[in-house]
Amino acid sequence: MAWAYVIATAGKNDLDWVKNLGADRVIDYKNELFENEVGNVDLVYDLIADKTLERSWQVLKEKGGRIISTLDHPAAVQMAQSHHARWAHMVVTVKNKQLAQIADLIVKKKVRVAIGKTFPLEKVQAAHRLVENGHVRGKVLLTLR
Ligand SMILES: NC(=O)c1ccc[n+]([C@@H]2O[C@H](COP(=O)([O-])OP(=O)(O)OC[C@H]3O[C@@H](n4cnc5c(N)ncnc54)[C@H](OP(=O)(O)O)[C@@H]3O)[C@@H](O)[C@H]2O)c1
Repeated sequence: MAWAYVIATAGKNDLDWVKNLGADRVIDYKNELFENEVGNVDLVYDLIADKTLERSWQVLKEKGGRIISTLDHPAAVQMAQSHHARWAHMVVTVKNKQLAQIADLIVKKKVRVAIGKTFPLEKVQAAHRLVENGHVRGKVLLTLR
């Protein structure tokens, strides 16, 4: 099986942490422009959208590159066409089969999940506020009794 060479972006304090999670290379997004550092990329997985998406087209290979975004962008399809690329908006849907496959990858330690903070369900507002600030390290979990 062919593996991807993964280039990630992170803040200065998280560079080693992200590398430890499995990235081959990590770029400090607050001090470097990723588009000056990398190019000829097959696929960008975009978790930020806005200006970050607009800067991402130039790192793709000349033709046939792809960007998958977790957030929508009104001009994404048009931008993709003008860069001879493809764009898709990914929306998570809860499907038992997929959840079981992901759980299996976690059990086999092929995927590592970092837990940022855990809240009881009644503190869901505080959990949401933390997620909304966009700078959580790891996932925010809610626990049920
Ligand atoms: N469509 C869907 O089904 C779906 C599913 C999941 C998530 N989403 C959306 O996708 C987005 C990302 O989700 P997430 O769970 O990864 O969010 P998250 O856990 O809040 O991600 C935060 C991370 O992004 C980093 N970050 C913030 N601004 C950045 C930038 N300009 N460049 C590079 N890294 C940056 C932060 O690092 P620093 O702290 O160092 O800044 C932090 O580590 C959210 O807006 C979420 O709502 C959509």
